[in-house]
Amino acid sequence: MKTPIRVAVTGAAGQIGYSLVFRIASGAMFGPDQPLILHLIEAPIEKVMKALEGVAMELDDCAFPLLKGVVQTSDPAVGFTDANWCLMVGAKPRGPGMERADLLKDNGRIFIAQGQVIDAVAAADARVVVVGNPANTNCMIAASQAKRLPPECFTAMVRLDQNRAQTQLAIKAGADLTTVQNIFIYGNHSPTMFPAFAHATIGGQPATSIITDTAWLQGPFCETVGKRGAAIIAARGASSAASAANALVDHVRSLVTPGTIHSVAVKSNGNYGFDANVWAGMPVRTTTPGSYEVITSYAMDEFAKSKIAATNKELLDERAFVAELMAK
Ligand code: NAD
Ligand code: LMR
Repeated sequence: MKTPIRVAVTGAAGQIGYSLVFRIASGAMFGPDQPLILHLIEAPIEKVMKALEGVAMELDDCAFPLLKGVVQTSDPAVGFTDANWCLMVGAKPRGPGMERADLLKDNGRIFIAQGQVIDAVAAADARVVVVGNPANTNCMIAASQAKRLPPECFTAMVRLDQNRAQTQLAIKAGADLTTVQNIFIYGNHSPTMFPAFAHATIGGQPATSIITDTAWLQGPFCETVGKRGAAIIAARGASSAASAANALVDHVRSLVTPGTIHSVAVKSNGNYGFDANVWAGMPVRTTTPGSYEVITSYAMDEFAKSKIAATNKELLDERAFVAELMAK
């Protein structure tokens, strides 16, 4: 039996949290032989903590063999102590008519405070994944507070966008989605993100040789993927939750599975022409569990370069907006 790992989840009683924690406890995230202890962290609000108690009761009632304990807390210093994985979901979602960047003022502060606590008390091998929006910039904010944990430990989720892009290509091609491969997301988790269709394959062939409608690829395809979050909000009256939780399971599962190539928002270090200090989506290959190397070999045509320049500019604008917050 492996030693249990500690997995901290913020916003555990929220919409994503409710779809997420049961899948983690079932083994979907870390595998069927990895026991774990869940640290459920919520806002210090009586009603919310009561709801969290209900979530913990339901976890008990599932009798998950891998679940070796549950910590419930509103104190991040308790919740992140010795955590091997810190899954930062807890943050406000946007409503109709808002962009994710509109959340920066409210949510940015959470990532300053929690970034400091994680750096102080989490396990030496801690990995941090940011889901709360705007995810890329919140991840940069949390990483900016760390003195002990290196920036590579902080990633933000663009996997939902990758999954969305994969399905849209499959529908257009009339192909099974498992045959769609190598579709990676560059840049911000926002409408400016770029799903790099020129590198995608369908059944081993270039996707562009099967979907020859370039106008569709450059226009409606990119737009549908980029604006899918808003479309879900318009339809559901609430932001995506089950698909976001599923994407987080995929993000972490891929990050603990050596050899997997997948889209992750990481500190760019200048790759693909992004500013070195923004967190941008790009393809990575998992090397050892929790670690990765960026795949830098994909060539970009003029269209791709212009899309990357636009999403990079948005990340820079968001960074400028929170510069004061990070400096305090
Ligand atoms: P929600 O409002 O249902 O749940 C958020 C939870 O976070 C609430 O229970 C709230 O009490 C809690 N919370 C707030 N501040 C906290 C704090 N300081 N510490 C701990 N918990 C705190 O929202 P949701 O639908 O679960 O969405 C959560 C976030 O995820 C939003 O910002 C949303 O926009 C984002 N999101 C990101 C993606 C992505 O692909 N990156 C996808 C979907 C949603
Ligand atoms: C999504 O992409 O579904 C989430 O980021 C929620 C949102 O605000 O769009």
